[in-house]
Amino acid sequence: MRLSLRFLIPLLLALGVFAYAAVPLVDGLMLRWFVRDLDIRANLVANAAQDPLVALVDQGSPARLTRYFARLLQDERMHAMALCLPGLDQPISSPDFPAGLRCSDLERYGEGRELRLFSAPHGPLHVAAKPLDDARAPGLQLVLVHDMSFVDRRSEETRRYLFVFFVALSAIVALITVVIAQLSWRGWVHGLRALLRGEGIVRPASAAAMPELRPLARDVRELVRQLEQQYRPRDDSQLAWTPQALRAILEGELSGHEVIVVSNREPYIHVQTPAGVRVQRPASGLVTALEPVMRACSGTWIAHGSGSADRATVDLNDRIDVPPDAPAYKLRRIWLSPEEEAGYYSGFANEGLWPLCHIAHVRPTFRSADFEHYRAVNERFAEAVVDEAKSPDPIVLVQDYHFALLPRMVRDRLPNATIIAFWHIPWPNPEAFAICPWRNELLDGMLGSSILGFHTQFHCNNFLDTVDRLLEARVDRESFTVTFRGSLTAVHRYPISIEWPPQAMRNQVPVDEARRRVRERFGLPANQFLGIGVERLDYTKGVLERFRAVGRLLEIEPQWIGRFTFVQIAAPTRGMIGDYRDYGERVKVVADEINARFPQAAHPPIVLLTEHHEPEQVYEYLRAAELCFVSSLHDGMNLVAKEFIASRDDERGVLLLSQFAGASRELPEALIVNPYDADQCAAALHVALTMPADEQRARMRLMRGLVAEFNVYRWAGRMLIDAAAMRQRSRLSRYSRDRERLESA
Ligand code: F6P
Repeated sequence: MRLSLRFLIPLLLALGVFAYAAVPLVDGLMLRWFVRDLDIRANLVANAAQDPLVALVDQGSPARLTRYFARLLQDERMHAMALCLPGLDQPISSPDFPAGLRCSDLERYGEGRELRLFSAPHGPLHVAAKPLDDARAPGLQLVLVHDMSFVDRRSEETRRYLFVFFVALSAIVALITVVIAQLSWRGWVHGLRALLRGEGIVRPASAAAMPELRPLARDVRELVRQLEQQYRPRDDSQLAWTPQALRAILEGELSGHEVIVVSNREPYIHVQTPAGVRVQRPASGLVTALEPVMRACSGTWIAHGSGSADRATVDLNDRIDVPPDAPAYKLRRIWLSPEEEAGYYSGFANEGLWPLCHIAHVRPTFRSADFEHYRAVNERFAEAVVDEAKSPDPIVLVQDYHFALLPRMVRDRLPNATIIAFWHIPWPNPEAFAICPWRNELLDGMLGSSILGFHTQFHCNNFLDTVDRLLEARVDRESFTVTFRGSLTAVHRYPISIEWPPQAMRNQVPVDEARRRVRERFGLPANQFLGIGVERLDYTKGVLERFRAVGRLLEIEPQWIGRFTFVQIAAPTRGMIGDYRDYGERVKVVADEINARFPQAAHPPIVLLTEHHEPEQVYEYLRAAELCFVSSLHDGMNLVAKEFIASRDDERGVLLLSQFAGASRELPEALIVNPYDADQCAAALHVALTMPADEQRARMRLMRGLVAEFNVYRWAGRMLIDAAAMRQRSRLSRYSRDRERLESA
C-alpha cells in the first residue's frame, strides 16, 4: 500500500467518525445539559418571584405585573414571561411572549417540561410552566420563556473545538499507523525473503520469533511441496520418457503455453524433381532430435525455406502443416535472398562460428558484411516469432549457432517469453572465442535466454568462463547462472538424443534381410564384414581420419583385405563454402587412394556414397553393418552414434566412437578412440571385427538401455520442466519484489 494511502485512510476514518457519530452525540448531550440548566433556572426564578407575583395578583393590577416582568426580563437569557390565572386561557404576558401560546397548551408539558419553539424571529425557545403553590392565590402558573439560541452558539463553538481535536488526533493516529506498518512490512518482507532463501523453513527459530509469518510460511511450504510433487514423478529414474510424458508436462506445468521452435534448417524440404514435388528430410542432428519433440508438442516451427518447391507448397502466410502424411504442427518458412543466405548462413554462421567453436584446425573467417546479414536475418526470425506468438509469454526454443542474437531480440519484443536457447555445437574456451570481433554482441544476444543449454558440462564451463572473462556480468558457479542486464540465464547441460524407438525403425526388415540387401547392392558376398559411417561431408566429422584408419587396419591386419568393406554415406553439405568443397574433394581422393593401395582386394575397402539418404535408408545400412565408426574431430553430441544403437534391436554390432564427440561421455561401452591416432583406430577396428557375440550383446544392451531412457523426450522434457520451475520461481520473486516495492513506497 502506498504511504499516502496509509496516512489518508486513518485520517478519513477519524473524520468520518467525527461527522457521523461525534457531532450528533455532542449536540444531543449539550442540548440535554442546557435544558436541565434552564429548568433549574426557571425553578429558581419562580421561587424567587412567587411572593412578589402573588402580591401583585392580589392587587389586581396587570400593568404593575407587566412592569415587574420587564424588570425580570433584564436577564439576557430570559426572553418572555407570562402568568396564567385560574379559569383564563389568555395569559398575562410580557410583549415577546410567543403569540398563540395559551394556558391550556401548558398542561401538555407539565411542570418542568421544556417546549422548544422555532418560530421566527425568536429562534429556539425553552418554555417552562411553574405552578406557584400559594394558598393566597391558588391555581397560578408562572410561564418562563428562555432564549435558547445561545445553545446553538455554544454547540457551534464546541463543534469547532471538536473538529480541531479530531483532526489532530487522526493525524497522530495516521502517523502511528504509518510507522507501525512500515516496521511491520519490513519485518514481513524480511521474513518472506528469509523463507524464500529457505532460512525461514530450515530455521524454525526465526519463524517462531515472527508469528505473523506463520501463515505465509505455510503457503510457501505448500507451494514448494506442490512443486516437488509435480517434479518428483518426473524424476529421471521414475519416468518413462515418451511423447505422452512430454505432452503431460506441456498440459500440466506449462498448460496454455504455446511452443515455438526457431532453427535454420527446416524439418521437411520440398524439392522439385522431374517426377514432381518430393519431400526430403535433411541430414541434420538437430532435425532428427527436434522433429519428434514437435510432433509431440504441436506448436510452430520457424525455419528457413530452402527447398526448390518450398514456396509452391506453403499457404498465404508461408505456413504448411507437417508431417505431410500426419500433420501435427505448423512449419512457418522464412525466405532468404541469395545474399542473405551467403552472408548469414554460409558466411558468419558456417565460415565464422562453426570453425570458431569446433577444434578442427580450420580457421574461422569473419567479415563485417556477413555479420550484418547475420544480424538482419536474426531480426527477421525474431519478428516471425512475434508474428507467430498467440500469447505474450510463449515458450521459444531457439536452436543453434545460427541464432546467437535472437534470444535478446525476442526478449526485447516479448519480455515475458520463456526463451530456451540450445547450442548444438561445442563452446570453445575463452581465448578461442575471444578472437570473434562480435564476441560481446553474441554473448549479449545469448544471455537474452531464460535457459541456455549445451550438450556437456565441459561446454557449460567454457561458456561461463567466457562470460566471466568478457562481460561485466555476475556469474554464479554454484547455481550455474549468469545475471546480466538485470536478468538471469540458467546455463545447463542437456545431452541431446533421439526418439525412442525411432520412427525410421517402423518399417525395417529383419537384420538378416538388411544385411543381405546391402551386400547385394554392392555385389559383396554374404560373409563380407561391413563397417558404416554416416554424416554430412563436414571437416569436423573426421572422415579422412576414418579412411586412414581403415587403410592402416588393412596394413596391420592384412587378413581383412577383401573381407572388410567400409561404406561411408556422406551427404553433401554447405557447398557454397570453399573449405567444404575442398574437403569433399579430399575425401574422394583419399578413398580412391586407399582403394588403390589394395588392388589385390576382391572387394573395395571403401565405398563412398556422396548423396542424400532418407532416414529409413540410413537405418538399413546401420542394421546391416558389423560396426559403426564415428570419428568426429570435435562434435557437440553426434546422434549417428545413438542412431546406430537404436537401429540394433538384434543387440549386435560394435560402435567405435571418438573421444571428442559429446556422446562419448554417455556411451563408455563403445570403443572410445582418438581419431588422430590412426594405429589406435585401426586396432579398435580389428577388436570390433573380432568381438565375440556375447560381448557385443552386453555392450549393446547397456547402450540401448541408456539411449532408450535418455531419449530426446527427456532432453526436451528436462528443459521444459526447468522452464516451468523458472516460471514458478519468477512468480515468487515477482511476489517478493512487489512486497519490496511496497516496503520502499
Ligand atoms: O551440429 C550442428 C548442426 O546444426 C546439427 O544440428 C546439424 O546436424 C547440422 O549442424 C546441420 O547443418 P546444416 O543445417 O548446415 O546442414
